[in-house]
Amino acid sequence: LFLCVIASVHLKYLSEDEDAKRELAEYIQETKKSINPRWRLHYHVIPPVGWMNDPNGFSYYKGEYHLFFQYYPYDSVWGPMHWGHSVSPNLVDWRELPTALAPDEEMCFSGSALVDGDKLVLMYTGRLNTDTDPFYNETQYLAFSDDGVNFYKYEGNPVLARTPDGAYDFRDPKIWKYGDYWYVVIGSSTHDARGRVLLYRSQNLYDWEFLTVLGESNGELGYMWECPDFFELDGKYILLMSPQGLEPQGDRYKNTHQTGYIIGSFNYETFEFVPEVDFQELDFGHDFYATQTLDADGKRIVAGWFSMWELPHPEDVDGWAGAITIMRELKLSGNRLLQQPLDEMLSLRNGSVHNGSFNKDESLVFEKTGELIINGDLEQKIELEIAGTNGGNNIWIRWEPEVKKVVVDRGGDVRQVEWSPIGSRSWRLFLDASSLELFCGEGEVVFSTRFYPDGDLRVNSFSDQSLNVEAHKLRRSVPV
Ligand code: FRU
Repeated sequence: LFLCVIASVHLKYLSEDEDAKRELAEYIQETKKSINPRWRLHYHVIPPVGWMNDPNGFSYYKGEYHLFFQYYPYDSVWGPMHWGHSVSPNLVDWRELPTALAPDEEMCFSGSALVDGDKLVLMYTGRLNTDTDPFYNETQYLAFSDDGVNFYKYEGNPVLARTPDGAYDFRDPKIWKYGDYWYVVIGSSTHDARGRVLLYRSQNLYDWEFLTVLGESNGELGYMWECPDFFELDGKYILLMSPQGLEPQGDRYKNTHQTGYIIGSFNYETFEFVPEVDFQELDFGHDFYATQTLDADGKRIVAGWFSMWELPHPEDVDGWAGAITIMRELKLSGNRLLQQPLDEMLSLRNGSVHNGSFNKDESLVFEKTGELIINGDLEQKIELEIAGTNGGNNIWIRWEPEVKKVVVDRGGDVRQVEWSPIGSRSWRLFLDASSLELFCGEGEVVFSTRFYPDGDLRVNSFSDQSLNVEAHKLRRSVPV
C-alpha cells in the first residue's frame, strides 16, 4: 500500500506538471495571434511571445544546435524567469520548442548546457524567493533531458548553494568538460562590491570543489561580473563576461552594462589565469549584452542578447521584447577578438536588390530585411541613413575620415569607435525589421543596435562619393 501511495503521489505530480506544460504551450499559441508583426525579426531568435533576455544553454545535442534563453511568456517585461528553447540544424534556421524550464520554488536564471553521455545537462542559477532568504538566494541547479525537448530538475538541487566567502551574488554558471573533470565559471562579486569570476570543478556534476577566483576587478571593472564564459582560442584563454557598473570613458562603456573580454594564459595544473591584454568591449553597438559561446567543431560561436537593461524596449507594446543577435564566429587576431557572421548566413540571401555604384542622394528599399556589402574610399566621409518608408525611427551610420571613426547614431545617442582596417576595408550590414548589425573589415569593429522604423527599410546615401554596394534581400529563418 505504501509503495502504491508513493507511486500515485509521484504520478499526480508528474501529471500536474504535464498539465502546466500543456497550459503554457496553449497560452503561447493563443497569445501569439495577437502580436503586432511590424518589428518582429525575420532571421533572429525572438521570444514566441513575451519577454526574452540572455542566451542560455547554447549546445549541440543529438544532431541539432540548442539555444535556450531567459524567458517570461506572460508579459513583455522581465518577470519570473523561465527558459525558452529554440533548435537549429545550422545556426541560421531556427524552430521553436516547448518552454524548457519553468519556475518552481526558484526562478530559472541564466546558465549553460553540456552533453553527458546520452543526456543533455543544464546548469543554471536557481534564484530563490528573497522573502525566505534575503541574502543567499542565488544557488546552482541542475536539470536533465533524454530527448532535448523535455527537462526534469534534479531532486537534490541546489548542487552549489553558497560562494566560498559568503558573498551574495552568485549566478550564471558556464560549464565545460576538460579531461576527467567538469569545470564551471560562475559570476560573482566580492564583499566590497568588485566583480569577479569563480572557478569550480567536479567529477560527477553533483559535488563541486572550489578552485580559485579566476578573475577579479581591481576596482575599475564594475561591481558584478554577469554571464562569465571561459575558453581557449588559438592557444590563448579568453575570459568573456558582462560587467555591471563600468563608468563611461570617452567613447567606451556607453551602455547600461557592458560585455567584453580579457585575453590571457591559463594552466589546468595551477588554475591560474594570467591576463595579458586588458578588458576590451566585444561590440560597440547600443544593444549587446550577456553573451554565451559554443564550441561548434572547433569554431567558437558567440550569441548575445540583442537588447539592453534599463532602456525602453519599444516592441513591448506589440506583445514581445528582446532578441538574440545573429550567431558570430570569434577569431583571435593579435590582441583582440574578431566577430564574423557565419558562412551559413549566405544561405539567407534571397534575391539581389542592388549591385554597383550607389550615389549621393540615391536610396535602396528593402522589404524588412537586407544585407549590404559597402565599399567606399576611406579618405572621404561615408554617411548612410536607414529610415522607415512610413517614418518612425531612423538611424545613421558614418565613417569619419578625419578622426578615423565608425559611428552609429540613433537619434543623437551615438556609439563610435576608431577603426584601422587590418585587412578588408568593406562594411557588411545586416538589417532586420528593427535591427542593424554592422561588421567592419574582418570583424574588428562590430555594432549591434536595435531601432524602430515604420514600414519597410530605406537606405539613403548622403556620402559625397559614389559607393560600391552589393545588396540582397534575406529570407525568413525563424517562425512568424
Ligand atoms: C544578465 C542577467 C543574469 C541573470 C539574468 C536574469 O542579463 O542579469 O545575471 O541570470 O539576467 O534574467
